[in-house]
Amino acid sequence: MMLNPWEFKEVKDYNKLMKEFGINDFSEYKKRLKNTPLEIRRGLVIGHKDFHKIYESIAKKKKFAVLTGLMPSGVFHLGHMTVINQVIYYQKLGAKIYLLVADLEAQLTRNIKEDEARKIAIEEYLINYIALGLKNKNLNFYFQTKGPKKVQEYMNLSKLASAKTTFNEIKTIYGDITPQKFMSALTQTADILYPQLEGIKTTITPVGFDQHPHASFTRDIASRMGFSLPAFTFHKLLPGLQGIKTKMSSSKPESYIALTDDEKTVETKIKKYAFSGGRDTLEEHRKKGGNPDIDISYQYLTLFEENDKKLEEIYNSYKSGNLLSGELKSILIEKINRFLKEHRKKREKAKKQINIFLRE
Ligand code: TRP
Repeated sequence: MMLNPWEFKEVKDYNKLMKEFGINDFSEYKKRLKNTPLEIRRGLVIGHKDFHKIYESIAKKKKFAVLTGLMPSGVFHLGHMTVINQVIYYQKLGAKIYLLVADLEAQLTRNIKEDEARKIAIEEYLINYIALGLKNKNLNFYFQTKGPKKVQEYMNLSKLASAKTTFNEIKTIYGDITPQKFMSALTQTADILYPQLEGIKTTITPVGFDQHPHASFTRDIASRMGFSLPAFTFHKLLPGLQGIKTKMSSSKPESYIALTDDEKTVETKIKKYAFSGGRDTLEEHRKKGGNPDIDISYQYLTLFEENDKKLEEIYNSYKSGNLLSGELKSILIEKINRFLKEHRKKREKAKKQINIFLRE
């Protein structure tokens, strides 16, 4: 199957996909890493390339960098949170962080103007990042349109990379794409290889599976230009409220829980939209039990309930028909609202720190 980083495609079988693309299974590292965020512990991150380099750097306390980019296209929701929580985890382990705003890509592929992209990046993303625990220490935050510190080398790299590919290769990896998308792909390659221009050879980029074409393109270019191969982890995209086969999308409020949603909105959205794996009637549910594996409330709960045993009890209780769909929803609503209540306070504090993060 061909993935498309600019359009959502439903992945029916992740294992098959990983085999097809030669993506390695992450479960061994999931077990070996300590104090991982729930995104890793609960199995959202399932694939990787060259993670052994990162594992070794962590174990031997060697220098490494984490790099990822954000698409400033709208409201910051739970899906975006899953990425930054991974970044924060690595930051705590001592990694140097490179975070970029894909404002050039936003202009080229989504028609979002530069000043609008900047506003979204700061007010939606950066504030929430800080509130979630991102620190200004060891952090390089930049906009693609302005470039990082070694701006000339970065800009040149994105152009020189073009000499290392062919239209045929582009077609094989991305399908038929526009010049704008091709430019965005080259820019992203420069983003991912940039830490190496500052002398950090070991890098990890946590991305959703939709970004796999960029990962594979970048690794090809890297080897042809004499860079080290950047490592990647791949996570399943967090599904939208409508069901595990749907996408949480900034352009559809009924599909997401935003980190700025108020209590009432969270409650309404979950009650009204969260796809239920429960049975049609109470009687049937009691008799046959629900299906937590396709139940959106249960799926989201895995990212909020820290206690493994408690979560397992909920799983079993729902599956056996003891716990009802409405009850499960209430558990989730309570969990999310408690989290958001704290988060709201942290956001207020974060607003005062914004300027420190933006200072050159
Ligand atoms: N293309 C990414 C997105 O749509 C954004 C991005 C730009 C990115 N440069 C990157 C992601 C480098 C990871 C690494 O979300």
